[in-house]
Amino acid sequence: MTSSNVHSIGFGLATENSKGEIIEVFYPQPLLAPSETLMEAITAVCKTEDGGNGVVLLDSSLLANLQSALSAANQAELASVLDKFSISSKTAIFCILKEDSAPANVAEAYLKLHLLSHRLVKPHGVNLDGLFAVLHNLAWTNRGAIDLEDLPQVQLDARLNDELLEIMSVDKFPKMSNYVMPKGVRIAHTARVRLGAYLGEGTTVMHEGFVNFNAGTEGPAMIEGRISAGVMVGANSDLGGGCSTMGTLSGGGKTIITVGNNCLIGANAGIGIPLADGCIVEAGLYVTAGTKLDLRDNTGKHIKTCKAVELSGVENLLFRRNSLSGGVECVPLKSSVSLNAELHGHN
Ligand SMILES: CC(C)(COP(=O)(O)OP(=O)(O)OC[C@H]1O[C@@H](n2cnc3c(N)ncnc32)[C@H](O)[C@@H]1OP(=O)(O)O)[C@@H](O)C(=O)NCCC(=O)NCCS
Repeated sequence: MTSSNVHSIGFGLATENSKGEIIEVFYPQPLLAPSETLMEAITAVCKTEDGGNGVVLLDSSLLANLQSALSAANQAELASVLDKFSISSKTAIFCILKEDSAPANVAEAYLKLHLLSHRLVKPHGVNLDGLFAVLHNLAWTNRGAIDLEDLPQVQLDARLNDELLEIMSVDKFPKMSNYVMPKGVRIAHTARVRLGAYLGEGTTVMHEGFVNFNAGTEGPAMIEGRISAGVMVGANSDLGGGCSTMGTLSGGGKTIITVGNNCLIGANAGIGIPLADGCIVEAGLYVTAGTKLDLRDNTGKHIKTCKAVELSGVENLLFRRNSLSGGVECVPLKSSVSLNAELHGHN
């Protein structure tokens, strides 16, 4: 099937605030690189004013016309989604990203976050420049997303109805699991994974684990530590309880951290350097880029003193703090880690 030149599209159900602004969108089936046939069917019925990136509000007649056009183009699945939209009281929208430019509005931003969590693009695979300025800070409640300006009134109305409005969080990002649950993952505490996280098949995120947007895991992984925005963890790696991967959103760090395949970051440890495949960081040791360490060979002989960042591309290393001298050491690893096969074979 020939692909159109369109980056991505999504039909979504939007939540609006009391000013009629879109504050949040759910896209059940976001599409990356839609086919030419599909785009011809859609654009025959609806397109943005200038034919570029944007959002079209779908009233009942547009929904009906789109549904017929999609059915005629053998797109039964999408046509059925629109059929369901037509009986909803929510605002239905069509969002099209002809190109991957910085998200210009909430609908575009949510489409990109969905693409990540649906595993259609990997972290760093879409342009998220200016995302924080576009997203609203919302109260995420048992009644869905509520703009903070509208919150006092909604709280009062709930009380007057003898109901309690439960606020789960106040944040720019909702939890991923309320939008999509990618196949083969386990998440012990769903609030710890934000929409826009990319969780590869076989990933387990335990209660202390956290996965930010534009970050995630390639494949099987045990995540009991924090995966900061922008950080990608390779397959078969283990992030121990409470460990940290340095992000670049705050704190001045510029280096994008990656964790290779078959790595172990011990409990309460942390990394401020990219880790190559097969590396281990001892429990409790934080290895920052500038950490000066004693590099040793496999007989324990001192090779040189260097900064940890100089070893960021080297595989199969163990970073540890010598418990007698207090100095940080790096030694070649004799054995590599492997994930608990029983735990990961049953996600
Ligand atoms: C760093 C680590 C991987 C080393 O484990 P290991 O390879 O099994 O090594 P051992 O504990 O068998 O130690 C090997 C030798 O090094 C010594 N050693 C270990 N750590 C040391 C340290 N920090 N300083 C000095 N010596 C050390 C041991 O005493 C032992 O000495 P020996 O040969 O004289 O007996 C382990 O200590 C660790 O931190 N694992 C992380 C586990 C974790 O946090 N998992 C996540 C759970 S949520």
